[in-house]
Amino acid sequence: MFSFSGQTNFCGRRCVWVNGPVIVGAGPSGLAVSACLKEQCIPFVVIERADCIASLWQKRTYDRLKLHLPKKFCQLPKLPFPEDYPEYPTKKQFITYLENYAQKFDIKPQFNECVQSAKYDEACQLWRVVTVSTSGSETEYICQMLVVATGENAEGVVPEIDGLEEFSGEVIHAKDYKSGQKYTGKKVLVVGCGNSGMELSLDLSNHNAKPSMVVRSSVHVLPREIMGKSTFDLAMMLMKWLPLWLVDKILLMLTWFILGNIQKYGVKRPSLGPLELKNHYGKTPVLDIGALEKIRSGEIKVVPGIKRFNSNSVELVNGERLDIDSVVLATGYCSNVPFWLQETEFFAKNGFPKTPFPNGWKGKRGLYASGFTRRGLAGASADALKISQDIGKVWNEELKQKKKKVHTHRRCISTF
Ligand SMILES: Cc1cc2nc3c(=O)[nH]c(=O)nc-3n(C[C@H](O)[C@H](O)[C@H](O)COP(=O)(O)OP(=O)(O)OC[C@H]3O[C@@H](n4cnc5c(N)ncnc54)[C@H](O)[C@@H]3O)c2cc1C
Ligand SMILES: NC(=O)c1ccc[n+]([C@@H]2O[C@H](COP(=O)([O-])OP(=O)(O)OC[C@H]3O[C@@H](n4cnc5c(N)ncnc54)[C@H](OP(=O)(O)O)[C@@H]3O)[C@@H](O)[C@H]2O)c1
Repeated sequence: MFSFSGQTNFCGRRCVWVNGPVIVGAGPSGLAVSACLKEQCIPFVVIERADCIASLWQKRTYDRLKLHLPKKFCQLPKLPFPEDYPEYPTKKQFITYLENYAQKFDIKPQFNECVQSAKYDEACQLWRVVTVSTSGSETEYICQMLVVATGENAEGVVPEIDGLEEFSGEVIHAKDYKSGQKYTGKKVLVVGCGNSGMELSLDLSNHNAKPSMVVRSSVHVLPREIMGKSTFDLAMMLMKWLPLWLVDKILLMLTWFILGNIQKYGVKRPSLGPLELKNHYGKTPVLDIGALEKIRSGEIKVVPGIKRFNSNSVELVNGERLDIDSVVLATGYCSNVPFWLQETEFFAKNGFPKTPFPNGWKGKRGLYASGFTRRGLAGASADALKISQDIGKVWNEELKQKKKKVHTHRRCISTF
């Protein structure tokens, strides 16, 4: 489908002209854009640093993970989940779905190629995308359109904490945690209380480890379901009729009835409501799937912020000292876009588009961003539809122009 003219330039770099867009990242966002382009017969190239699609899901998530929103909010365009899938598919089922998706739409990414830089060349009005493969060879892709689909969670955030390098036990990031099996009987400090921190603490506790979870500020914990209906679904429904602040109030009141007062266990609530906090600061509420019960029973100990680590212990801001064997940093993720995209008009320093939702999917000069709206898989699908429609318009317009030129050229020849 694409015209591929592999030539080596004077730097020893293979040069490839790509008809249609280059899509960086073969996660759900990149796959969704690809499928929508495939349907319009528009050629493209997908570049992926890993050796598989959806590498976040396949390689950087823990075993017990399930989608935390109902499946109807997580399916990608043009292919619903199989009917026999449960309401909250497991990670394995989600990966199988994505593999079938790639197969159905015949999406074949260039694997093991990491994009090192991408910049717009004003002189030739084209994007130049340089990749390095795992074998060390460089390739430069030249294209008119660039779709950034490298994800909001491209890299794990490892904060600088006093004394962490002196700690003699194991320190890992949540992205490398698989299961609590190897921690049985161990005292584990889980730093962070987002969805990762809560679920890893639960998993550790289920494997008879002794987790202490650091809650340094505040967090909204909501039940995953309210009266048998998904909390997310309920919020979406209420938002059609009511202002955000009122929906927040209703959600918090219902939450109080179901979960009770969680403040007394050390889990403080932010002053801003869960939806407003998500909208303004991108902070995701935790959907509880069992950690709270373990907190209430004392099987998960909630501790305040960290002052410093020592060789085999941690000092907390309240002066308490805990002996610990291991540390799991559930301290979140970040975008890696600023490390490779040489562009500052559309993307901000934090690696997210500057333009707020719903307009952060399209930049200038054929630049697009898919999966950066902090709206999970539903956001990725919505972006993919808008991006592919826009690319379709540009593509068909150019095709018309080209046909017109050929037609005029032929007429000139025939009148000659
Ligand atoms: C533990 C965890 C659980 C989650 N659960 C849910 C959930 O239940 N529901 C939900 O809606 N969302 C969930 N999310 C959010 C999740 O990130 C998105 O739903 C989804 O994975 C986003 O897809 P994406 O394609 O935008 O990003 P990703 O899945 O991160 O895919 C990006 C791809 O780009 C590749 N890439 C990155 N940099 C480069 C580069 N320089 N060159 C080449 N390739 C590159 C990566 O290897 C990756 O394969 C979860 C996130 C985490 C961390
Ligand atoms: N499907 C699922 O069930 C599932 C599971 C896991 C994750 N996810 C999704 O994945 C994304 C990332 O979630 P996440 O939980 O990994 O990250 P996150 O939501 O960004 O949470 C990071 C946590 O780390 C804390 N933290 C950061 N630095 C710290 C430090 N120096 N000391 C103490 N605490 C520190 C933060 O505290 P502050 O708030 O004080 O900064 C916060 O509690 C979210 O979208 C989430 O919904 C989904």
